[in-house]
Parts: sequence; structure tokens; C-alpha cells
Amino acid sequence: MTRIRPETPGDTAAISDLLIRAFDGPAEARLVDQLRRDGDLDLSLVAVEDGRIVGSIVLSPLRAPFPARALAPVAVAPDRQRAGIGTALIAAAFAARPGHTIVVLGDPAYYARSGFRPVGWDCAYAGPFLQAAGPHMPERATIAYAPAFGALG
Ligand SMILES: CC(C)(COP(=O)(O)OP(=O)(O)OC[C@H]1O[C@@H](n2cnc3c(N)ncnc32)[C@H](O)[C@@H]1OP(=O)(O)O)[C@@H](O)C(=O)NCCC(=O)NCCS
Repeated sequence: MTRIRPETPGDTAAISDLLIRAFDGPAEARLVDQLRRDGDLDLSLVAVEDGRIVGSIVLSPLRAPFPARALAPVAVAPDRQRAGIGTALIAAAFAARPGHTIVVLGDPAYYARSGFRPVGWDCAYAGPFLQAAGPHMPERATIAYAPAFGALG
């Protein structure tokens, strides 16, 4: 059975390891470490199966003219992908932040299934991969990610 719960201090190394494996490199693990150091880890949930962390999702603050959070990253262990864990983590993040719009940068083919749609908002990452879902979906808005994202380039 898969259980979703907030991260605890003892999870940090396992989350990093999962992100490195899921993304095949250290960039996302470094991003999450930096968000944690900056106090910008608004929400970090893990999916756990038999005591093993098999999924991770992180929300961080977003400067926006309405209550909003940035979703990044979400990852599932390679051997547990396509079992609904990513979708369940996204649903749990929405449930944890009622009243908030969540913004994500990623493949629309994946995120559309969780209700995301492309938004033409002014942002460092504006483009076809910028998507949002939630109660606040204005035609125009200017949003800014937490400083840790600047290091991603
Ligand atoms: C993207 C990711 C989080 C999805 O998690 P998951 O638990 O495998 O996803 P779910 O089981 O909830 O959904 C799987 C469905 O999404 C589809 N899907 C997964 N990744 C996709 C992608 N990049 N583009 C389009 N569809 C995708 C699958 O085809 C599958 O559909 P199907 O069941 O109809 O075959 C996971 O594959 C992952 O960790 N990938 C590597 C890291 C990554 O790219 N993270 C997202 C960017 S922040």
C-alpha cells in the first residue's frame, strides 16, 4: 500500500536519492536542498511503500497577485512509475493547500490529467510548459518563483 505523508528530517537523504534516480542527475535534488536551506520548502510530501520512499512532491512559495504555490519537483522511483503515485502526490498537494492555485512547469501531456492548463502569465519560465490549476486563473498575472530556482538556469 502507498501512504502519502509530510517529509520528516530523517527522509532528506532518501528524497535526494530518489530525485537523482528519477531525473538521472543532481539538479532537482540540489534545488530541493536549497529550498529547504532557504526556508522555502512550503510543503514536501513523500509516498512510502513498505517503509521505502517511492515518491516526492515539493511546493514552494510563489510571488503572485493571488494565493499560489509552485510545484517542483514531483518524482516517482523509476521502478514504481505508471502506478498512479505521481497523480496521487499531486492530488495530495492540492488537498494540503486549499484556496491556492498551483503552478507547474512541465509536460502538458502529463499535467493535464491533474487539471492543469497552460497559462500565459508573465514569468521567468513563460512558455508552453507553464501551467496552472486552482481557484485563481486570471487571464494575466505576473508571478515569480523562489530564489532557489535561479540557480537552475
Ligand atoms: C512524471 C512522473 C512524476 C509521473 O509519475 P507516475 O507515478 O509515473 O505517474 P502516474 O502513474 O500518476 O501517471 C502515469 C501516466 O502518466 C503518463 N506520463 C508519465 N510521464 C509522462 C510524460 N512526461 N508525458 C506524458 N505522459 C506521461 C504515463 O503515460 C501514464 O499514463 P498511462 O497510465 O495512461 O500509461 C514520473 O514519471 C517521474 O518521476 N518522472 C521522472 C521525473 C519527472 O520528469 N518529473 C516531472 C517533472 S517535475
